[in-house]
Amino acid sequence: MIETIVAARDAALDQIAAANTLDEIVRMDQDVLGKRGSLTVLKTRLGTLATADDKKRAGQELNAAQRQVAGALTERRSQLQAADREQRVAAERLDLTEHVAARRRGHAHIVTQAWERLEDVFVGLGFTVAEGPEVETDWYNFEALNMPSSHPARNEFDTLFLDHAGAPAGTTVLRTHTSPVQIRAMLASGPPLYVVAPGRVFRRDTPDATHMPVFHQIEGLVIDRDINLGHLAGTIEAFTRAFFGPGFTSRLRPSYFPFTEPSGEFDIRTPSGEWLELGGCGMVHPNVLRAGGIDPETWSGFAFGFGVYRVAKERHRVDDLREMFTGNIRFAEQF
Ligand code: DAH
Repeated sequence: MIETIVAARDAALDQIAAANTLDEIVRMDQDVLGKRGSLTVLKTRLGTLATADDKKRAGQELNAAQRQVAGALTERRSQLQAADREQRVAAERLDLTEHVAARRRGHAHIVTQAWERLEDVFVGLGFTVAEGPEVETDWYNFEALNMPSSHPARNEFDTLFLDHAGAPAGTTVLRTHTSPVQIRAMLASGPPLYVVAPGRVFRRDTPDATHMPVFHQIEGLVIDRDINLGHLAGTIEAFTRAFFGPGFTSRLRPSYFPFTEPSGEFDIRTPSGEWLELGGCGMVHPNVLRAGGIDPETWSGFAFGFGVYRVAKERHRVDDLREMFTGNIRFAEQF
């Protein structure tokens, strides 16, 4: 019996010494000391021994063997845990000197780059840059732009409304376009005005290759004496060449917007002869001038607005608008 105990103990100790993972230790613990472990089951055989003395000696030997094995398990477990920790620390080690050797600078996102270049080009054409709030009132976003509450054109803007304490429901909106900044600029400084207003706008749209619920527009507004459609066409053309390059040209097509009369859409033609729709434009409607506190008998003007992403898309040949908003570093790094 003693030999059996010693053999089981030694076999266990050998295996523990050879164990290389914490999982093996857990398994060994069960296999030797568990309910049906190799040492545990020997206990039941003590009863078969002939004398009380034999039983006592074998019992003591068995207890000692179990203690030894338990001790060996504990020791091997902590050795493996330490090695494990060391390995993890080595793997996660942060070398603070590393970036000095391989410095990598970040850069502005493709939309920010386009936004800033648009500002630069318009400033070069004599415009100043204005801004308006992203949370607007119904009045600035629609009413003052010649879209009273019954106007069907409102349906084209899938508006996101905000609950705003103290304001009746449906009167506070996330601006659906940058056009309300026209009114803010008129009321803030009066004519003459040569402003562009880039900014974020919001619509209840499901994201797809060409729509996002949040996107960027740039608005332009000119108010002065004797401004006519020729000035609008000339400005669009000057912008097209300055921004895209001398190989590009532009055209206006008749269209409809409530805040301009007449209204147009403007397209640009790439050097390869392809026409791309860029945005809307027109002569500022007299009702809009009046809402901005400007006398339409003395002053006239034009306005335009287009999506910043369209411009970035054309410059960088991005096919899917969603790419610009995923935060995918491999996409962002290309520009
Ligand atoms: N606000 C229009 C839109 O989001 C774009 C637009 C059209 C702006 C004509 C203008 C304009 O200033 O004159 O669809």
